[in-house]
Amino acid sequence: MSDGGRRPLIAGNWKMHKTVAETRALLRELRARPLPRHVDVVVAPPFTALAAAHEELTESPIALGAQNVHEFTHGPFTGEISPVMLHELGVRFVIVGHSERRAAGETDADVNRKVHACLAHGLTPIVAVGETKDEHLAHRTHDRVTAQTRAAFEGVDAAAAARCVVAYEPIWAIGTGLSDSPENANGVIAEIRAAVDGLASARLLYGGSMKGENAPALMAQPDIDGGLIGGASLTANAFLEVIDAAGAATSAR
Ligand code: PGA
Repeated sequence: MSDGGRRPLIAGNWKMHKTVAETRALLRELRARPLPRHVDVVVAPPFTALAAAHEELTESPIALGAQNVHEFTHGPFTGEISPVMLHELGVRFVIVGHSERRAAGETDADVNRKVHACLAHGLTPIVAVGETKDEHLAHRTHDRVTAQTRAAFEGVDAAAAARCVVAYEPIWAIGTGLSDSPENANGVIAEIRAAVDGLASARLLYGGSMKGENAPALMAQPDIDGGLIGGASLTANAFLEVIDAAGAATSAR
């Protein structure tokens, strides 16, 4: 899989869903179906299912992601998982700074240290940024997401930033069925691109209730390179609808 340029990328964030047995079953279903050649696909199961997922994905174009990582390689950090441990399991992408983790206390500085940890250990961070509903209504989206993005990439050079992925996920759109309008999402994503050197050539995703129905319009936007998909990544049919929409939009561009 290429991790540079702006090849479309669809990443499934399974959150706290899927046992090992369920992970194997879903990945077998996905592997049995043809995937568009011009779309990169990532699945991010829970930590407990990563080893099984790695086995199921042997010789598959689908890449493995994790949902979080610790900033250090080892040490007295009960309950944490290091970038070295993830890399050993075949993980190549890590979602960093998801709003559900930020709500649990993760700060911009934590996100920045995790981005550096990923880059130091051969992992591509998928950095999630996004505003709350109150910030959205107060027209503070631009300030919020550009501040989060700049903080996440503090000390990262432009060449390294270009290899990263950023997901714009308005918090009010996550898991609610309410997605941002394609034009608005594209505008915010263009601002994120301009906020940090190197992001002009990085892959920038939209996330927040993206599914088969709205994926074509989102993917038709010039600055949206793909999606971070929660609910619609939990069944093969729903996930493949998004992947196929990304494939169709790419050939139409
Ligand atoms: P959703 O989640 O697609 O269920 O809205 C997206 C996410 O939280 O990454």
